[in-house]
Formats: sequence, structure tokens, C-alpha cells
Amino acid sequence: MSNEAINKSITDIREEISDEELKSLTVAIKTRYGIDFTNYEVKSLKRGIARLITKYNLGSLIGLWSKILKDREFLIGCIDDLLVNLTEMFRNPEIWEKIRADLMEQYKNKSTIKIWHAGCSTGEEIYTMAIVLSQAGLYGRADVTATDLSSAAMAKAMEGNYSSFLWKKYLGAFKQYFPGGKPEDFFEIAEDHVKVKESLKKNISFKKHNLVQDPMNKKFDVIFCRNVMIYFDEVLKMKVLNLFYNCLEPGGYLIIGYYDMLPEQSKELYNLYDPKTRIYVRK
Ligand SMILES: C[S@@+](CC[C@H](N)C(=O)[O-])C[C@H]1O[C@@H](n2cnc3c(N)ncnc32)[C@H](O)[C@@H]1O
Repeated sequence: MSNEAINKSITDIREEISDEELKSLTVAIKTRYGIDFTNYEVKSLKRGIARLITKYNLGSLIGLWSKILKDREFLIGCIDDLLVNLTEMFRNPEIWEKIRADLMEQYKNKSTIKIWHAGCSTGEEIYTMAIVLSQAGLYGRADVTATDLSSAAMAKAMEGNYSSFLWKKYLGAFKQYFPGGKPEDFFEIAEDHVKVKESLKKNISFKKHNLVQDPMNKKFDVIFCRNVMIYFDEVLKMKVLNLFYNCLEPGGYLIIGYYDMLPEQSKELYNLYDPKTRIYVRK
């Protein structure tokens, strides 16, 4: 099948799935396996499900339903298809400029800077922040926790190995942020790929973590959760925002994505620090 035909098939299948069918499937998965997709945003979840039906040639939601409920391993393998892993280095450059100008300045005399990348995907955001910290001379004091629900994305994040195709784009962004910087200080550059140096990984602990269900027993100065909550409904967003509230030091920063919309109720927990870069401060 051509890519065009695959996309058409995914769109057609997605349109056939009703909200009630989606709800019953997610409730059944939650009841049987304890994995909770019940409050995910409907449109992107339906698209993920349609992607799975097409990929495994299961015909319809009923085919997927019976496969998932019989075969736990199959479901575990499907989780990555249900999630969206898009990310890049120095995504939204003005955020990193703001972090350099304000946060690095505030933290320059702090002995430890605790950072959580929640929903870190394949690691580009973590290594961007690690470069920002290094450039400010603060990486040695950073204590970084990087988490995601997707095992495949986490494995890539830990490896920090990116194709030369991606690198072309990332190098431009690196030079824009850090004109005098030498990429070879941070990356081992080979012909067909680049690998993040071990020196840039040493303060990072990686952990598989489900924001919807898993506890986090640590306090942080900064939490990044960019482009993750776009896939959550309002109930789930508030649940996660409460978790972040309990994990942030008073006055700590929450950095969200450009298209993340926070519920009205979140104003009780956070003040907007900078509207342009979507940085919030815990009350
Ligand atoms: C679009 S990526 C964002 C990556 C990065 N934060 C950025 O903005 O460049 C969204 C990530 O959220 C993760 N995710 C989705 N639901 C999650 C959950 N319940 N717990 C933890 N991570 C989740 C996905 O696996 C994916 O890697």
C-alpha cells in the first residue's frame, strides 16, 4: 500500500470509531491490564487506534479489541503506536534563550538544580537542557530525572544516538543558540550519526514512568512537560498538574509546550511567569 493509501485507510477507520466504542475499549484495557488511556484526548487516541488496526491488518475495532484483550504482550507492544513521540533539539528557540537569561542566572549559586523532563520522548529536550546547563557552567550541579511511558522512546533517549538526517537540523539549531559553541564538546560525530557524549549523560537518570498512574517521590526546581498534556483531557491535565504541584519546590518552574492549554482551575496552583515561552511558577 502507498503512504497515501495508508493515510486514507487510517482516516477512514478513525472516522468509523464512535466515542462510545472508544470509551468501552479504554475502560476494558484499564480493567483488564490497569493501563489507563480513559482520559486521553479522543481525536489523537482514535488516530492511534486506527494506525494499529491498519498496521496489523485487523480490519476493524472489533478485530483489535479481541486481539488486545486476549494478548497482553500485544497490548504492551502497541503502546508506542498509541503515543506521539515527536520532538527535536532546541525546539522553540526562545524558550532556551529565556532559560539561559532568567533561570540559569537565578540558579548560578544553587548547589543542586533538580530537573524533571516528564514525557521526554527520544531525549532531544533533555540534551538541549544539558547543553544549556553546560554552557552556563552548571551541568555539574544538575540532578536530572527523565521519564516517559514509551519504552522504545526511553531506550532511544538513553542511547542519545541520532541520524545524520536529524543532525543537520539539530546542528543549525545548536549554532543558533550557541554561536561560539563546539558541537564536538557534546557529541561524537560520525559520518551517518551523532552520539551524545557520556559526559553529557552522567547526571541524568532515566525511568519509565506513567504520568497518569505512577507516583513521583522527589522534589524538583524545574519540571518540563512540553507537548504531552495536549493528548490529555481536562480531568487528566488537572491530575498531572496536581502531581507536578506536589513535586515542585515552592517557586519552582513548570515549562509546558506552545500548544498545551491549561484548565482554568490550574490558576489555583500556578502563576504565569512568561506567556511567550509558556513558563509557569508554582504558587
Ligand atoms: C510529543 S512528545 C513530547 C516530547 C518532548 N517533551 C518535546 O516537547 O519535544 C510526547 C511524549 O509524551 C509521552 N507520554 C504520553 N502519555 C504519557 C504518560 N501517560 N506518561 C508519560 N509519558 C507520556 C509520549 O510517549 C511521548 O514521548
